Amino acid sequence: MAHKFDPANLTRLESPERLELLPIDKVIALLEVRTGERVLDAGCGTGIFAVPLARTVGESGRVFAVDLSVEMVEACRQRVAREGVSNVEVIQSEENSIPVPSASVDLAFACHLLHELEDPAKFLAEVRRVLVPTGRLAAIEWEKVETGVGPPLEHRLTPGDSRAILEKSNFTVTDARRVTWANYLLLARPA
Ligand SMILES: C[S@@+](CC[C@H](N)C(=O)[O-])C[C@H]1O[C@@H](n2cnc3c(N)ncnc32)[C@H](O)[C@@H]1O
Repeated sequence: MAHKFDPANLTRLESPERLELLPIDKVIALLEVRTGERVLDAGCGTGIFAVPLARTVGESGRVFAVDLSVEMVEACRQRVAREGVSNVEVIQSEENSIPVPSASVDLAFACHLLHELEDPAKFLAEVRRVLVPTGRLAAIEWEKVETGVGPPLEHRLTPGDSRAILEKSNFTVTDARRVTWANYLLLARPA
């Protein structure tokens, strides 16, 4: 059974300690998102990335923010309303089902999601379905070292683990980048 983030602790997703190790602006810059793109924020949590992603893609773009947790979806909806962005759709999803049309996404972004998936191959097949053929996937995971915040070490994935998961699901990893000493980013494309 994968370790799921407990929605009762959702404020931890926005804690200064976490954001120091996962700076939002730096993450957005590393994603190289372009105006007009359609972005899937998979496992969006409270939407700390969905809103800046929406501002980055602008009015001609769109963000699909999906999460299986009712509490997260509600928190994300509240953030979107509070921040006054109109190009985010917040959608309740299921473990291996993303209710977004096929070939409708340019970038699938998954921050701290991979290690929570029950069946990564099934979930990533869904990601492939919603991506356009030229689309890309960006996955951020915690380094498998003590970081003070984040999931227990035994649930974390090394960059090699994450790369193997993506490659097994027919993605080609095109780049690996360091977000901070505590977080890494893998960029991939459908093989
Ligand atoms: C650690 S939180 C990260 C939230 C957000 N991406 C962030 O970085 O702030 C992981 C999120 O993934 C969601 N999640 C886990 N498995 C999922 C799945 N199969 N489909 C959609 N969301 C999922 C959880 O409900 C949780 O909100």
